[in-house]
Amino acid sequence: MEFRKVQIARTVHTPAKLNLYLDVLGRRVDGYHELETLMVPIGLRDSLTICPTPPPADGSVGEISLTVRSALGAYSQSGTRDAVPIGPENLVARALRLLRERSGIRAGARVQLVKRIPMAAGLGGGSSDAAAALRLGNRVWGLGYSTPQLLSLAAEIGSDVPFFIIGRAAICRGRGEAVEPISAGPRMHVVVLKPPVGLSTPQVFRAFDSFCAPHCRELPSASRVSAVVVALRRGDWPALGRAMSNQLERAADRLAPWLAQVRAVFRRLDCVGHQLSGSGSAYFGLCRHAAHARKLASMLQAKRLGFALATSSCP
Ligand code: C5P
Repeated sequence: MEFRKVQIARTVHTPAKLNLYLDVLGRRVDGYHELETLMVPIGLRDSLTICPTPPPADGSVGEISLTVRSALGAYSQSGTRDAVPIGPENLVARALRLLRERSGIRAGARVQLVKRIPMAAGLGGGSSDAAAALRLGNRVWGLGYSTPQLLSLAAEIGSDVPFFIIGRAAICRGRGEAVEPISAGPRMHVVVLKPPVGLSTPQVFRAFDSFCAPHCRELPSASRVSAVVVALRRGDWPALGRAMSNQLERAADRLAPWLAQVRAVFRRLDCVGHQLSGSGSAYFGLCRHAAHARKLASMLQAKRLGFALATSSCP
């Protein structure tokens, strides 16, 4: 396949996610964990711009250049030292290289990423950027890949990337790559707190294996995700608050004992429900409406536990 026609630069805004439910069902032979998780995209977004460049005349492969601008000023003020990788390990660069290798084109791209989603937060920022790069690369390079083809490439990049290709509320199983979209009902308002210190996903899963898995195996294994699905569809926030859970929380607590303080603060706030998102360290509270989320965000901000933001699920 080759660069079919000259395309202009395109921009997409890539959402973060929250895990309303996360159950670790077991360890797999490939070292990953079998999951059942329900995720929703939220209105905190990075921006990705891709400008395609023509294939070099000498028959070589065009450059994929990436510049990253951090719009994480507010998080930095709260002490976070987030560093976005800009080298080949950056998920956007990996996604575009994969797309190009598989399609056999030689075109290049100039890519700009504006980061607003904090890293090491369990908010899926890197995965969302990678999914956006696959969709946008497909478009600006005129490759014509179908959504199932993009989903399969996405799964090669990371467990959460296929969810962002679908881009709506979904139950994700397997490693996270088997995505079943669900109907999400009315808009859900939340307050999200990103503490200054982040958490590493592999480390949290390792802590889960060491400290939590033996205990969890004794628990009944019936899935409780359907209660979350029903509450979300009806917009029944109290029922959603009761049904939410995240089995990685205790593992995250082992690595970050200060999360107990965050949880205690949320317990004293007038939230409908609260928990860690994914492997953390972002923690969120379910709110009754937008004004409620804004009020809780300013209360949290005043407590100086990190950066607090009022946002909502994407329709
Ligand atoms: O798939 P991804 O590269 O995003 O996963 C990052 C890390 O999180 C993996 O290397 C693994 O340690 C852990 N992980 C896991 N089971 C999953 C997803 C992620 O153990 N289902």
